[in-house]
Amino acid sequence: MHPDDPRCIWEDVPAGDLILRVRRPPAAEDLIDEREFADDERLPYWAEVWPSARVLCGVLAGMDLTGRTVIELGGGIGTGAMTAALRGARALSTDWYPAAVEFSRWNARNLGLGMDAEVMDWRDPPESVIHRGPWDIVIGADILYEARNGVALGALIPALCAPSGEVIIADPRRPDSRPFVDAMQRCGWGYRRDDLPVPGRIDETGPIVHVHRFTPPRTDHNVPVLL
Ligand SMILES: C[S@@+](CC[C@H](N)C(=O)[O-])C[C@H]1O[C@@H](n2cnc3c(N)ncnc32)[C@H](O)[C@@H]1O
Repeated sequence: MHPDDPRCIWEDVPAGDLILRVRRPPAAEDLIDEREFADDERLPYWAEVWPSARVLCGVLAGMDLTGRTVIELGGGIGTGAMTAALRGARALSTDWYPAAVEFSRWNARNLGLGMDAEVMDWRDPPESVIHRGPWDIVIGADILYEARNGVALGALIPALCAPSGEVIIADPRRPDSRPFVDAMQRCGWGYRRDDLPVPGRIDETGPIVHVHRFTPPRTDHNVPVLL
């Protein structure tokens, strides 16, 4: 489905005092491709804006990101990167679904934002994205929902995050987030957690989202975090 498709809907995403009006497919279920699921257990979760994304947008809206570089992982429609761009960052949204990247680019253009978007699978990141780093801030919303995600992100995030950078991941208290959070701390990453209320519609994950904030260990270069 293309963003110009009349079946697409508009959604107002709160970002602090701002509202991002984004266009997205009406329902992720309609986009399920049985072949993709059989190959890789891939499901089109990108087509929704999840409660954690709204919390992440609120956090970023409260930051001055002028001149900072920001990469969003599993960005879906890219609302985190869009908010970062609104706050002055040079932002890139990434997702393994080309359709998500198409919607991100369309929405950023529609909002007049200079945000960029690229296809990236965490397990096989393109050199073009790695070479654009390291990034000042690595962000993600609801990306730790399966054990395999934490394994891939533990290997990837240290390669993306600048030694003086920060990682901000909003997570709706998914059980599979725990091994990732534990492993990052075990490997010496600084850690803080903020428990924040979800603005707007609440789903079965409840009214509170954990915002995990990590800073790299004090070394010259980051090493992969093994789970
Ligand atoms: C639950 S959705 C969250 C989307 C968006 N961040 C939000 O909160 O609205 C998880 C996202 O991670 C992406 N994703 C899952 N596995 C991935 C992988 N291996 N590489 C890149 N993106 C991935 C999905 O396509 C999807 O967009």
